[in-house]
Amino acid sequence: MKPILDELEQRRAGARAGGGEKRVAAQHKRGKLTARERLELLLDTGSFEEFDTFVQHRCTDFGMDKAEKIPGDGVVTGWGTVNGRKVFVFAKDFTVFGGSLSEAHAAKITKIQDMALKVRAPIIGLFDAGGARIQEGVAALGGYGEVFKRNVTASGVIPQISVIMGPCAGGDVYSPAMTDFIFMVRDTSYMFVTGPEVVKTVTNESVTAEELGGAKVHTTKSSVADGAFENDVECLLQMRRLIDFLPACNRSGVPVWPSFDDGERLDPSLDTLVPDNPNKPYDMKELIAKVADEGDFFEIQQGFAKNILTGFGRVEGRTVGFVANQPMVLAGVLDADASRKAARFVRFCDAFEIPIVTFVDVPGFLPGTAQEYGGLIKHGAKLLFAYSQATVPLVTVITRKAFGGAYDVMASKHIGGDVNYAWPTAQIAVMGAKGAVEIIFRADIDDPEKIAARTKEYEQRFLSPFVAAERGYIDEVITPRATRKRIARALAMLASKKIEAPMKKHDNLPL
Ligand code: HXC
Repeated sequence: MKPILDELEQRRAGARAGGGEKRVAAQHKRGKLTARERLELLLDTGSFEEFDTFVQHRCTDFGMDKAEKIPGDGVVTGWGTVNGRKVFVFAKDFTVFGGSLSEAHAAKITKIQDMALKVRAPIIGLFDAGGARIQEGVAALGGYGEVFKRNVTASGVIPQISVIMGPCAGGDVYSPAMTDFIFMVRDTSYMFVTGPEVVKTVTNESVTAEELGGAKVHTTKSSVADGAFENDVECLLQMRRLIDFLPACNRSGVPVWPSFDDGERLDPSLDTLVPDNPNKPYDMKELIAKVADEGDFFEIQQGFAKNILTGFGRVEGRTVGFVANQPMVLAGVLDADASRKAARFVRFCDAFEIPIVTFVDVPGFLPGTAQEYGGLIKHGAKLLFAYSQATVPLVTVITRKAFGGAYDVMASKHIGGDVNYAWPTAQIAVMGAKGAVEIIFRADIDDPEKIAARTKEYEQRFLSPFVAAERGYIDEVITPRATRKRIARALAMLASKKIEAPMKKHDNLPL
């Protein structure tokens, strides 16, 4: 028995060595960890169960029959736990053929995808790779197709997270793009369909990899990535934090963690959060922090469309998705980017049965040719569609402005809001006083006294929560200090909410 055990240990050591000392040293020199080091940080200590340690490529073209065969073939796969909860993982090993995807490498990933779907647990992919294994040609392309198809089958059933921790090009970008979240590491990771050399040849643009697809580009311009972190260690620790918020699957319900924050907690400081001057901004993040358990908020797309906030928190130990207009940026207006960002988040929450709490302070949709030419109508419709379609508990609090179509869109009663509250400072109207008076009293426009009187009249009648409350569009006007308590109670009451949607193959979301 002993020699066989020795051989096993020897083979395992060979797999653990990856592409060898030199390549591992080069990986470290670039500030990157190896695939196995990353998994150690991501998973609970000692929990990793590896699959397919000894898989090797079967390619014989372009000298691959003579090339060294490294067990594992550039990807480490298996499962483990994060704070005791089961997750499936694959981590590309850049030290082995640049983490490139061969037929055998793809089969390792699809095995894990199938397993994750079968047992209904999240899957996390760590990417650091040069795309299709060039020597394998179409076999590698076929492998990608198998991975993509499974991404789509699993979408909306189990959470799928992609973490970009090095180069990510060609086929490697499309699998992440079909997962729920993409996170990147600053300065060491980049994503693009075609690299700088191809770009130079085709469009004659000269760009660096960082300028073309670095973390800054994808978290602030393209919105391809949902967040970025300083280094591998911070990134993986934040992924552990994110997983703690996510359900195992669409039928499991949200995880419930012990909460040491009283659901009935009042916060008197919220009574003065909204400034007296309706045009002065305030930080909506403060409201989220004061409502969420222990102020813990995991923000999604923090660097993109900052006029809307999206992210996860907990109320009484249970995950909720927060969506909130941010008056600090563009007065919290809804534009195409903000609508798209929030729509995707609402759809994730709805798919995974995560209740949504919406805080509203929105002056309307952003006017202008840039917005209209950019398809504001369709992008705004995405958010309207997402909320209207959602069957999870929806609790909405209007803190100040809820003007025009944006009032309807932001989880209003009319499109499915279950419990809709307003603070006494709320202003629910078709538009602000100035714009309204200038339109309906155009004849008096040259008479400042008349206009002032009309404006005052409009403000008194419409710029309050009470016209909406008189109609039942608002369930109750609440004191700001009691917001957490009212939300906690509403969510507890709504926990058994059930809506049966009519049978259809699928909807036709305005894409
Ligand atoms: C095979 C590859 C490889 C690949 C890298 N390597 N990419 N081997 N297939 N795609 C190998 C290198 O030969 C090298 O081997 C090792 O990995 C490290 O690569 P380097 O080039 O030395 O590293 P670096 O300078 O850091 O550059 C990394 C890189 C570059 C930017 C990723 O390697 C690169 O541009 N690779 C090719 C990217 C690409 O065009 N892929 C195909 C995309 S097409 P040694 O033995 O020297 O360590 C595609 C189609 C799918 O993916 C589409 C589906 C929709």
